[in-house]
Amino acid sequence: MRARLLQVAAQTGTPVYVYDLDEAVRRCQALTETFQGRFGLSYAVKANPNLQLLAGLLPYVDTLDVSSYREVERALLVGCPAERITFSGPAKRAGEVRGAVEQQIGELVLESVAEAELADSAARERGVRQPVLIRINPANGPKKFGVSFSGKASQFGVDEEVLDEAIDRIQQLPGLDLVGFHIYSGTNSLDPEAITQNFAIFIELFRRAAARSGIAPRKLVFGSGFGVPYGAGEQPLDIEAVAATAVPMIDELKRDPTFANARCVLELGRWLVAPAGWLLTGVIAQKHSRGTELRACDAGFNNHLAACGMMGTVIRRNWRFDNISNPQGAPAEYTLVGPLCTSIDVLASKLTLPEVRLGDVIAVENSGAYGLTASPTRFISHPEPAEVLLVGDEIRDATESALNTWTTVDAQGQPRSGTGAG
Ligand SMILES: Cc1ncc(COP(=O)(O)O)c(C=O)c1O
Repeated sequence: MRARLLQVAAQTGTPVYVYDLDEAVRRCQALTETFQGRFGLSYAVKANPNLQLLAGLLPYVDTLDVSSYREVERALLVGCPAERITFSGPAKRAGEVRGAVEQQIGELVLESVAEAELADSAARERGVRQPVLIRINPANGPKKFGVSFSGKASQFGVDEEVLDEAIDRIQQLPGLDLVGFHIYSGTNSLDPEAITQNFAIFIELFRRAAARSGIAPRKLVFGSGFGVPYGAGEQPLDIEAVAATAVPMIDELKRDPTFANARCVLELGRWLVAPAGWLLTGVIAQKHSRGTELRACDAGFNNHLAACGMMGTVIRRNWRFDNISNPQGAPAEYTLVGPLCTSIDVLASKLTLPEVRLGDVIAVENSGAYGLTASPTRFISHPEPAEVLLVGDEIRDATESALNTWTTVDAQGQPRSGTGAG
């Protein structure tokens, strides 16, 4: 892969995000196979909304889960049928709910009773019934998740403690069709036991919600929380170990006639795409300062907030970096900083890398999720990184212009130019 990444850097310049579509597809297939088809997949668009990547992943997932109306539009732009879109996210604007209902998206994931009421009036105005899932926020959750929303005040979903009243109210709304339930209560876990303990909590809640509502759910969404190893000492999540416990759990659930026809879906983003992406940044300045070898790169937290430890991390840890220009160089300790005029713009501190010279290209690994899309690119007005998609032997430009003119792709993956809707 090093040679390929160097080729991209030479062709495109830096900074550039590189996404390996084939690897992302392999990861989709690996999940489907490892879980022996017990789960469909729902790709969380927020993890990486790049249009060409979305188009490439679409054949391998059940649904695209979006969290804004603009993401609804992105899903539609790449040819995703509306019925394969789900829409989660707190504080949806009234116009977003109306828009989603007008597009007849697959399921609106209700985060509150107030949102249900909005959706109900939008659906009745249009004379339709909008399929919905109720997102439940559990009162309990195991530890060992990067971030957990359960058991604390949270803007996400209906708290388990008031679930019964919420179900009763939502079922009174004639414009809504309650199809099932959704839980996403923790992110980025590398611990199979914590993940399956969480699934057990989900299943108990799904049983309770089905009993209260009297429906036989057609859809149950398991927010997977599957993590990736960002730090040097971490090991990848053992998905076989997760499956060894989760598959029998699903089989048991489905032996209950109430759940026999429920489609169980794993919802996730980072596990699918993070390891299939790199940010390539060039070294543009060097300085020896009071005992530290500093190297300044052309990308900082403006281009990759998460790698700089500013997205949901309490203590900043170094991510995995590779000096792809000089892999055989003599190892030394470096602090990598970005181009921003602020002392917090640190990519990695006291990291051992093969000798880092001016002009070298540094690859930031695990950057396929929450990279460009989750970064404040306007800060200090540096140019936006390019985006590139690797497909087979091809290197495709996947950059979307900051001027809101999107180069989109159709369902067959063919480029198509258009101006961003909305
Ligand atoms: C509702 C929902 N689904 C899916 C995800 C994707 O999480 P991850 O990328 O960690 O798999 C998130 C992340 O915040 C989420 O809020």
